[in-house]
Amino acid sequence: MSGLAAAFDPFEGPYQVDPAEALRWSRDQLPVFYSPKLGYWIVSRYDDIKSVFRDNVLYSPRNALEKITPATPEAMKVLASYGYAMNRTLVNEDEPAHMERRRVLLDHFMPENLEAKQEMVRRLTREKIDGFIDRGRVDLVEEMLYEVPLTIALHFLGVPEDEIERMRSFAVAHAVNTWGRPTPEQQIEVAHAVGRFWQYAGEVIEKMRADPDGEGWMHYTIRKNAEIPEIVTDSYVHSMMMAIIVAAHETTSLASTNMFKTLLTHRDAWEDVCADPSLIPNAVEECLRYAGSMVAWRRETTAPAQLGGVELPAGAKLLIVQASGNQDERHFEDGDKFDIYRDNAVEHLTFGYGSHQCLGKNIGRLEMRIFLEEMSRRLPHLRLAEQEFTYLPNTSFRGPNNLWVEWNPEQNPERANPALRRGGVHFPVGAPLRKEIARKVRVTAVRREADGVLGLTLEDVRGRPLPRWSAGAHGELCLGEYERKYSLCGRPDAPGYDVAILLEEQGRGGSRYLHEVVRPGTELKLRGPNNLFRLDESARGYVLVAGGIGITPILAMADRLKMLGRDYVIHYAGRSRASMAFLARLESDHGGHVRIYSKQEGERVDLPAIVGSLAEGAQIYACGPARMIRALEDLSAELPGNTLHFEHFSAQGSGLDPEQESAFEVELMDSGLTVAVAADTTLLEAIRAVGIDLASDCCEGLCGSCEVTVLEGEIDHRDLVLTRSERAENRRMMACCSRAKSGGRIKLA
Ligand code: HEM
Ligand code: FES
Repeated sequence: MSGLAAAFDPFEGPYQVDPAEALRWSRDQLPVFYSPKLGYWIVSRYDDIKSVFRDNVLYSPRNALEKITPATPEAMKVLASYGYAMNRTLVNEDEPAHMERRRVLLDHFMPENLEAKQEMVRRLTREKIDGFIDRGRVDLVEEMLYEVPLTIALHFLGVPEDEIERMRSFAVAHAVNTWGRPTPEQQIEVAHAVGRFWQYAGEVIEKMRADPDGEGWMHYTIRKNAEIPEIVTDSYVHSMMMAIIVAAHETTSLASTNMFKTLLTHRDAWEDVCADPSLIPNAVEECLRYAGSMVAWRRETTAPAQLGGVELPAGAKLLIVQASGNQDERHFEDGDKFDIYRDNAVEHLTFGYGSHQCLGKNIGRLEMRIFLEEMSRRLPHLRLAEQEFTYLPNTSFRGPNNLWVEWNPEQNPERANPALRRGGVHFPVGAPLRKEIARKVRVTAVRREADGVLGLTLEDVRGRPLPRWSAGAHGELCLGEYERKYSLCGRPDAPGYDVAILLEEQGRGGSRYLHEVVRPGTELKLRGPNNLFRLDESARGYVLVAGGIGITPILAMADRLKMLGRDYVIHYAGRSRASMAFLARLESDHGGHVRIYSKQEGERVDLPAIVGSLAEGAQIYACGPARMIRALEDLSAELPGNTLHFEHFSAQGSGLDPEQESAFEVELMDSGLTVAVAADTTLLEAIRAVGIDLASDCCEGLCGSCEVTVLEGEIDHRDLVLTRSERAENRRMMACCSRAKSGGRIKLA
């Protein structure tokens, strides 16, 4: 075991300062490791964390609310004296009980039922800001971010508001009790507070039972407890009453505090939000990714498991560190940078993932958006005051105890323009739409890279550095309806992004527009960068194969491999030398490594020979026309699964013809729903229509971002992402384009 694993202590040192940074070494070297100080296995990479969340049978949530520091016998005695019997709620309940209960209790959280809450959040936020706007200096936690989420939470639950003060002292005790490391003396004190909270939760339930028609989710839960006590049990109601206060309130208060701290320390982002409130939904998502309030969650294996190359025994306790996964470079390009234009920020793990994914995520989002909208409109000159931040030491909940901010009230814009006091932008409930997220870039150089190939250099319109990117990454240029991905192919240290655009005679006109209209100085919108064609840097050798414009990601890969001093060869085929971009650069930078094949000169790339002579442990990276990729697939069918990696630059077909398609049904096991997919609807659209967030990107079966897990049923695969062997396994499909075979029924995770 490495010394770093032995030294890992989540209650002090680097993890308390910055959990993502504290686990950078683990993400890079040892993504799953045992921490003897905690008695838990720590999981730090995005994909591993997501796969744990995804499988709630192998990785049971039953330990999610367990005391992470076992209680001393004295503390146990104190707890027992209060009749403390914290048990299963939703978040720590196993299947099938969990899903049965979740489905019964889901309705209140549906977006259509939350719309009406916006007004109340807005009103409470305004009242708070009215109260301090002329003061010039406040602790935002004390003045707003603690109390408003608590009031909203109690209102949502239907708990009488006169209980606010008592709730407040209890919540901290519950957090320390569950996720902290109190000393033996503190354990006694905490046990008394928790015991009182437990009794008090019981009293609140009794009070609520006396008002059987009361509003709010807990009233509803209590009614369901009377109707179906075998599903919504007594023990559940009491335990939930205690847990939900922290779940609904503490999470949102801390996330909002982190949000203001992060934005005010990234002044450019704050100013962008003040100037353009439409950026707010994604800025909130990026704050949840970069500095979420829930940094680590727990699971326990129910059988031996393999995770991140490590064998875990049955009964292994896992601390899955979302804060670390959220900054994993393997999923988020330039992951440790805060970037409100990041178009996949919404894929963060702060709300968990899968069947237990936070039910209240849209309430949290809604509050954070309104806080940010009101503050940035009324106090754009807000600054962070000099201060030392303090945190409650624990594994999971993160956010400073106080947040001192200051401003000059003389400059409050509403003194000159009182209309600013009201106004406000309305954001629809739910995840932000990806199509609305893009950064503005300016073309700084235009080149002719080859016949019909235009080279552009793009830089941020305000001259700020663009995010770093990794070999194989692409950016997406957006021109009105036209959206097209282009691999980044510049030198890695260059300040701007280089792309090469092939004029597509048969295309939708976007490439022609770019070829004809773009000049140095033209402003464009760019989404990304994202990387769906990653280089596995641990291979023993590399064969890079490019056809035509497919050279662009291959060039970036070659640059990277050269920098790493690795063994690589490039095979580059094209119609004619005149039509092949980057020949001169390839010659100068990769001279001895390149083989060029020009069809015009009768040269053909010999794919069978290339695959046949592949050294053991070497990998092939290919980008080019579908024909070339399919040939490589056939040739490498017998080779180990990780040998061939490819990216297409054109999709087959598009659109759905209801005459040709059949409707089908899909059962979504994680959310317990059955969804009908009509003949003219994609599976992706049908899943989204029932309120489930599912990432997507190309919507053409190219990018792999809409992948879903298949449990049962025959699939008509229409994507260009899965390899033949992956299709044969029948374990995954692309929801944007693939369907059930001839009207059959399928089951997805
Ligand atoms: C579950 C985070 C706000 C209610 C969870 C989980 C996390 C989380 C990490 C566990 C997910 C899993 O196991 O996959 C957050 C964060 C919030 C927030 C970061 C705010 C920014 C809320 C609010 C409510 C709420 C406002 C209620 C009003 C719940 C419930 C569950 C849950 C009921 C259990 C769901 C289940 O197990 O089926 N939350 N939460 N949360 N959250 Fe939230
Ligand atoms: Fe790209 Fe489905 S969204 S493959």
